[in-house]
Amino acid sequence: MGPEMKEDKTKTEARSTSFELRFIVLLLCFISTVVPVAGFALRDCRISQNSAICKPVDGKLRTVPQDIPSTVKSIDLSSNNITKILTSDFRKKSVLTELDLKGNTIVQIDPRAFADLISLKKLNLNSNKLVKLGDDIFVGLSNVTELRITHNHIKAVLPTSFESLTSLTFLDISHNKLHSSKNVHSLLQQLPNLQSLVITNNDLTHFQSWELTNSSLELASLDLSQNPIAVFRITADVFPNLTWLNIGSTIKNKMIWDIRNKTFFSRVSTLDVSGLQLVSDDWKTFLESFNSSLTILRMNQMKHDLTELISISCTIPTITTLQLRQNKLSIIHSNLFSLCIHLTELDLSDNSIQKIQDEAFMSLKGLRDLSLGRNKLPSVPAATRNLKILSKLDLSTNKISSLGCNDFANLTKLRQLNLYQNPIPALNEFAFKDLIGLQVLKLQSCQISRLNKAFSNYLPNLRQLYLNGNKLTIIKKGELNGLKSLQNLSLHENQIKVFQNGSFIGLTNLTILLLQSNDIQTDSLKQNWFTGLTNLKRLDLRDNHISYANSLSWLPRNLLEGLTNLLSFDAHSSQLLSIHKDMFKHTPRLQMLDISSNELTDLTPDLFSPIQNLKSLYISRINLRSLDFLINAKLTELEFLQARKNIFSVISQEEINSLPALVYLDLFGQSFKCDCDNAAFLNWTVKNTQTQVFDAYNFKCNYPPSLNSTKLLDLDIHSCSVNIEFNCFITTTCLTLLFMMVSFTYHFLRLQLVYAYYVFLAFLFDSKHKNTQASDQYDAFISYNAHDEPWVISELLPKLENEQGWRLCLHHRDFEPGKPIMDNIADAIYGSRKTICVISQRYLESEWCSREMTLASFRLFDEQKDVLILVFLEEIPTAQLSPYYRMRKLLKRQTYLSWPRAEENTNLFWEKLRQALKTREDHGEDRFLLNVVDQP
Ligand SMILES: *[C@@H]1O[C@H](CO)[C@@H](O)[C@H](O)[C@H]1NC(C)=O
Ligand SMILES: *[C@@H]1O[C@H](CO)[C@@H](O)[C@H](O)[C@H]1NC(C)=O
Ligand SMILES: *[C@@H]1O[C@H](CO)[C@@H](O)[C@H](O)[C@H]1NC(C)=O
Ligand SMILES: *[C@@H]1O[C@H](CO)[C@@H](O)[C@H](O)[C@H]1NC(C)=O
Ligand SMILES: *[C@@H]1O[C@H](CO)[C@@H](O)[C@H](O)[C@H]1NC(C)=O
Ligand SMILES: *[C@@H]1O[C@H](CO)[C@@H](O)[C@H](O)[C@H]1NC(C)=O
Repeated sequence: MGPEMKEDKTKTEARSTSFELRFIVLLLCFISTVVPVAGFALRDCRISQNSAICKPVDGKLRTVPQDIPSTVKSIDLSSNNITKILTSDFRKKSVLTELDLKGNTIVQIDPRAFADLISLKKLNLNSNKLVKLGDDIFVGLSNVTELRITHNHIKAVLPTSFESLTSLTFLDISHNKLHSSKNVHSLLQQLPNLQSLVITNNDLTHFQSWELTNSSLELASLDLSQNPIAVFRITADVFPNLTWLNIGSTIKNKMIWDIRNKTFFSRVSTLDVSGLQLVSDDWKTFLESFNSSLTILRMNQMKHDLTELISISCTIPTITTLQLRQNKLSIIHSNLFSLCIHLTELDLSDNSIQKIQDEAFMSLKGLRDLSLGRNKLPSVPAATRNLKILSKLDLSTNKISSLGCNDFANLTKLRQLNLYQNPIPALNEFAFKDLIGLQVLKLQSCQISRLNKAFSNYLPNLRQLYLNGNKLTIIKKGELNGLKSLQNLSLHENQIKVFQNGSFIGLTNLTILLLQSNDIQTDSLKQNWFTGLTNLKRLDLRDNHISYANSLSWLPRNLLEGLTNLLSFDAHSSQLLSIHKDMFKHTPRLQMLDISSNELTDLTPDLFSPIQNLKSLYISRINLRSLDFLINAKLTELEFLQARKNIFSVISQEEINSLPALVYLDLFGQSFKCDCDNAAFLNWTVKNTQTQVFDAYNFKCNYPPSLNSTKLLDLDIHSCSVNIEFNCFITTTCLTLLFMMVSFTYHFLRLQLVYAYYVFLAFLFDSKHKNTQASDQYDAFISYNAHDEPWVISELLPKLENEQGWRLCLHHRDFEPGKPIMDNIADAIYGSRKTICVISQRYLESEWCSREMTLASFRLFDEQKDVLILVFLEEIPTAQLSPYYRMRKLLKRQTYLSWPRAEENTNLFWEKLRQALKTREDHGEDRFLLNVVDQP
């Protein structure tokens, strides 16, 4: 095969590929206009990360929306007004794993309403109006592990309602009206795998183990608090695995505690007896029934003498955590905790403690965590200085008005200190000097107006500093210099007007800086307060009035200089009139930008050219007249766009196309021009499958005036939908043209078509036979037309077979009867060394002959073997050969003999044929020598 041939082949291939492509495009274009695509503007829900949240902006849902895609993993329908769950509501949601229906008014759930939710893991039915749980409402929920059904009016549990919940491990049925412990029994019987049962605030008056026959329960956690239990009697080992028990109750009744064997609760490690009163008043025996497993004891709101309770519990050496909230303690005497040498955690919050005697914590040598929040302490108690290994100290919400130099002396192991909500107007320079291990310091809402160098030299390991909600007006140079490890700094909700240049110097590890809701001003257009914060990722400046020269509301253009790693910048509500186009050239990695609620009116594409990684953009309420800046802004990564309440009213196809990655578009409260200008946007809103358009069904019309009360999505775009009609027009035209082309081709180029068809068939057969090299059964296969049979029988056969002695294959004689004709032909060609085609007008017109020749020529091309010998019985003009493109090529280089021209000298003709039959296939060069006649 020559290079010319190769080139031709590729050309044909290329041509056919491009044709195929065009056809596929056409087909798609046709399909897309005919088959409707599922819409992505949901009426009442929005979807993000596979979760649907259904809360209409105004009003409440009365029924479960039917347009939630069945691909979502979680549906939140909470806080609506749904009264009934119908059998059809959750059909086909077979991948749903979480369903939240809390805070509705559900009174009825139809049988098998959840039957399709085979993947559901969590179901929340809290705060509804269910009274009875029917027999088959939970059918199908075999994968649910967590069920919450608190704050309903359930009075009884049927013996089979929960049976289908075979995987349930957690059940919260608190705040209902269960009164008999038979109900608890029934639950535990139906739910053998339950590990955690919460049944607080019901009407249980008795709890007796004889009602529980099944003793192989897996239950690890049982919360029976806030029930008026009068008798708690355990006579058998029914909770062998129980580790967590709450039997506290502030209801005014006393409990008879009857545990027959101390081993029954021998695994309980956490016990809550808050508010409990015992008929016997014998707390020693009571606590002894927990043997020696108890480590955490909660005794909040106790009515019994607390000093005695503390003494009893602190003599149990395993107890390490004591919670004593809401016990009205006001003074902590020196000896109250003198026995508590094993405590590591003590929670005294929510009392009225005013005074703690200095030696009160002397014995608590191992204490790590001390909570004194929500008390009335006037200063940091000196007693804490004895807690050498204390790691967490909570002094929040007290009345501490100043900090002394030695308040935190010796607390070198402290990691977290909570001081929020204390009235401390000024910090002490040396207050934190010993806190070398401190990592978190919470000082929010303390009325602090002066920092007094408290952070200039100390706290080398502090990572998080909360100073929000104070009265700071200035951050001076060097004031934060000591905080070398600081990562998060919250300074929002102060009255900060200025930062001195260098305020943040040295804070190289700072990643989050919150400065929103201050009063930040600038006296120069060239401010670089943030120099050095190279690791800063988030900067929040929203709700400030950053302005220059009191009138021009501009951000200093180099404000963000040095913040090369900034990912999130918020300048929401900053009274900005414009933003300099170079503003973001310092922050190339920016992903989130919020410039909502300013007076920008216009945005230029230039502003966005340095921040091509932007993923979320908030441009609500900026009086934007058009979204056309998007077309050149090239925000190809943008996934989230919020542009609420602006004054543009048309969104063009180009603007839509400029955001290829968009998945969520929030135009809440926007109104639109309701005419054909928005047809493309409307069509896209409903039909696109990638971008969810939030609240689209509530978009209002602002033009023309006659449509003022109409919604955009109610607009009939058929009357004007240019796009659809245009698409239809194009499609129809394309189809018509295609049809014409095919007809034309068929009519005028029929032969070429037929030939092409055979070439294709032959190609198939050639591929099939290529590797099945039959041994040469014949010397030559004679391909001829039936009309030429007389010549073949009378002239060719006698000469070649009888005189020259070749073995010939003739179809009328040698083809295997019953075999498909194409197979026969292929076998003949591949089973013979040569193929002689006897060519005449009729031969060329006959389909079988064409096939034979084509197949033979394939063998020639693909095996590079010289197998074809052409014998022309008649003179055939070149023009007539033109459809047989390959044959013409063949004639140029293959052996062919012409019978009419040999008329005078037939001997020479036969001799040439003999020579041709004699040559082996591999003598490629010889073939030209054999040409006896010039090319036609
Ligand atoms: C809930 O729906 C009921 C009617 O089913 C109606 O009377 C009630 O006002 C609605 N409640 C709320 C909060 O929308
Ligand atoms: C049910 O949960 C099991 C284990 O988590 C899981 O293998 C199975 O695929 C789940 N069934 C369905 C229908 O999701
Ligand atoms: C329950 O306790 C038994 C024996 O005490 C133990 O074999 C089993 O693993 C425990 N089950 C759980 C869930 O802890
Ligand atoms: C308590 O139960 C354990 C095993 O469950 C048993 O060995 C022991 O004798 C019982 N004690 C009493 C006083 O019944
Ligand atoms: C620190 O602890 C030591 C040893 O317990 C004690 O003597 C000292 O008074 C403590 N410091 C303060 C300021 O209380
Ligand atoms: C800053 O953070 C890096 C990485 O987390 C840490 O290796 C380095 O010690 C920190 N620098 C300071 C001063 O804490």
